[in-house]
Amino acid sequence: MKSTNGFRFLMCPPHHFGVEYVINPWMRGHIKAADQELACRQWERFHALMSDHADVALMPAVSGLPDLVFTANAALVYNRTAVLSSFRCPERRPEARHYAEWLSADGFQVKTLPSGTMFEGAGDALFDRAVKSLLWFGYGYRSDAAASRHLQNSIGVEVQELRLRDPRFYHLDTCFCPLEGGYLFYYPAAFDGQANAAIESRVSADRRFAVSEEDAIHFACNAVNIGKKVILNYATRELSAWLVSHGFDVNQTLMSEFIKAGGSTKCLSLRLNEC
Ligand code: ARG
Repeated sequence: MKSTNGFRFLMCPPHHFGVEYVINPWMRGHIKAADQELACRQWERFHALMSDHADVALMPAVSGLPDLVFTANAALVYNRTAVLSSFRCPERRPEARHYAEWLSADGFQVKTLPSGTMFEGAGDALFDRAVKSLLWFGYGYRSDAAASRHLQNSIGVEVQELRLRDPRFYHLDTCFCPLEGGYLFYYPAAFDGQANAAIESRVSADRRFAVSEEDAIHFACNAVNIGKKVILNYATRELSAWLVSHGFDVNQTLMSEFIKAGGSTKCLSLRLNEC
């Protein structure tokens, strides 16, 4: 029998997914190049895997919003509060209204940051899984550093800022994956020196793993962690071995069509019961 252990996520089916514009380096050269049928098959397989371990709520796809599938960018969810994204790229701004409608219909108190402060939700803001009141916050490409103070005030958690410095890893969740038990795998070259120092001082060496560029460019860090499960597009033998040796069960599921848009499993899901 399926045991979802209380994990709940939001996903959006890929009926209107496609690469229609270029707002990150992965989309360059891929306009109209995502195979719609293959994308649907990959998404269905991922959805089935997620549904084995969690309750998955679905929001409707909307024509003309090809990136709405990336629900991680809807908001930062904490208890019953959702801090709504304020998208940097005009192409994605119309998504916010749909995420806000779904989240408030689901009972969340939807808050917004002061206008002009860019913030891209759980794409750039990830809770530590051991120190529950610690929020890791990536900025430099999509979210503004200024969002950090507002997040601290609106949900009352400690925020650790991390400056991103490689445009391929434009959201924190493309290069940083906190795991249950306070473990972490991440791509150090995506962060500036101060961010690396902060990571090293907060997470002991025996709990963190620095992935290779091969893992990073295959979106290994863009992984969903549900209890001891880790669901990702690809992991090298080194990363898999590290995960397994710390008790994690690695599930690889191909996400090639979504990577053409700059996202993988983690981007395609939003954890709804963070606290
Ligand atoms: N094409 C989307 C964008 O550039 C991909 C979003 C990926 N989401 C994420 N949480 N990393 O905004």
